[in-house]
Amino acid sequence: MERTKILVTGGAGYIGSHAVVELYNAGFQPVLVDNFSNSSEKVLSGIEQILGTKVPFHNIDCNDAEAMRAVFAEEGSLRGVIHFAAFKAVGESTQKPLEYYQNNVGSLLTLLQIMREFGVEALVFSSSCTVYGIPDALPVTEQTPTKKANSPYGATKQMCEDILRDVAAAPNNTLRTILLRYFNPIGAHPSAKIGELPLGVPQNLIPYVTQTAAGIREQLTIHGNTYDTPDGTNIRDYVHVVDLAKAHVVAVQRLLEAQGEAVETFNVGTGRGNSVLEVVQAFERASGQKLNYTIGPPRPGDVPAIYADVTKATEELGFQTTSTLEEALASAWKWQLSLGGEVKK
Ligand code: NAD
Ligand code: WQD
Repeated sequence: MERTKILVTGGAGYIGSHAVVELYNAGFQPVLVDNFSNSSEKVLSGIEQILGTKVPFHNIDCNDAEAMRAVFAEEGSLRGVIHFAAFKAVGESTQKPLEYYQNNVGSLLTLLQIMREFGVEALVFSSSCTVYGIPDALPVTEQTPTKKANSPYGATKQMCEDILRDVAAAPNNTLRTILLRYFNPIGAHPSAKIGELPLGVPQNLIPYVTQTAAGIREQLTIHGNTYDTPDGTNIRDYVHVVDLAKAHVVAVQRLLEAQGEAVETFNVGTGRGNSVLEVVQAFERASGQKLNYTIGPPRPGDVPAIYADVTKATEELGFQTTSTLEEALASAWKWQLSLGGEVKK
């Protein structure tokens, strides 16, 4: 039987590559688009090693309408799209706001236009818990009010959500969209053939932790320990990237079965909050490595604590997490070791 084709923009990226594997394993035919602006060709060979087959790939920029049109025309029978492609570095977005608005908002507009031209009516969009800002109450549900974004990156996610809600509300709309608000994705595929590959000095916690344990970085700096949390460090909801990837499969299935409203929003996390110190301790247990860390000042813009209420995703999407924090961290460590970084004990 012919596999149902799903276009995956940003399919060579961290989350996209894991979603490609899970889509294929669930019987879909992922078709990848990426311009390697934050990834590399090596990811494609990692995917091929896991699946035992190549997946169709197009090296193009999602902002290039003609090139995107050519992909839709060539592939012929795309049934849906998962739009991962975006720039995602919060700090960099304050330095390069125009590039962020162009790439993140511009690419969505181009994509929507072409999907309409080709009658492709199912879209999963990568949103983020960043839309909640500093929440007034925890855990956050999809009804928790969003706050004005404190970075251009966050603003692009809010704008994209608004665009998709407006499109859904228009008369004669035929597009069905699921907005997935990811919390903090971590870990790697159990094969360690794909994982997170930050360019340069990592800004995110887990790659910094694994690179420190591998001796690539001297020391982890914990950004503040005087927050109003049980141990004073920030609390986040760390979700295994493979669990997150599977949320995309159930979202695509739901869209293709035409269940639910024209636009739906789901939190994707574990429903658990863990502090930075808890992450460090869990990493030490998972890896058997002692981590060199120090406490530094708070990082400007950090949310003291946030974690998800995932009731809606569990009940309506059938989403489930299977990994513990330690398992996710063990997979991140295995991936780090596979990259060949020397381990300093
Ligand atoms: P990533 O940078 O690893 O993946 C994004 C991929 O898109 C990269 O391979 C990049 O080369 C590609 N890309 C970017 N712009 C493109 C363009 N114009 N045309 C073609 N390809 C392009 O990031 P990720 O962590 O996998 O994130 C995927 C999505 O999830 C993004 O939309 C991001 O904003 C969102 N998100 C990520 C996180 C996170 O912590 N990683 C959290 C919430 C939301
Ligand atoms: C996690 C915790 C840091 C590095 C970001 C984006 C968000 C979303 C997910 C895309 C925080 C602490 C970190 C370090 C540390 N992405 N930390 N030392 O900030 O929760 O969220 O990624 O949508 O929009 O803002 O993730 O991994 O940077 O930080 O102490 O060297 O680790 O202060 O408490 P964050 P993170």
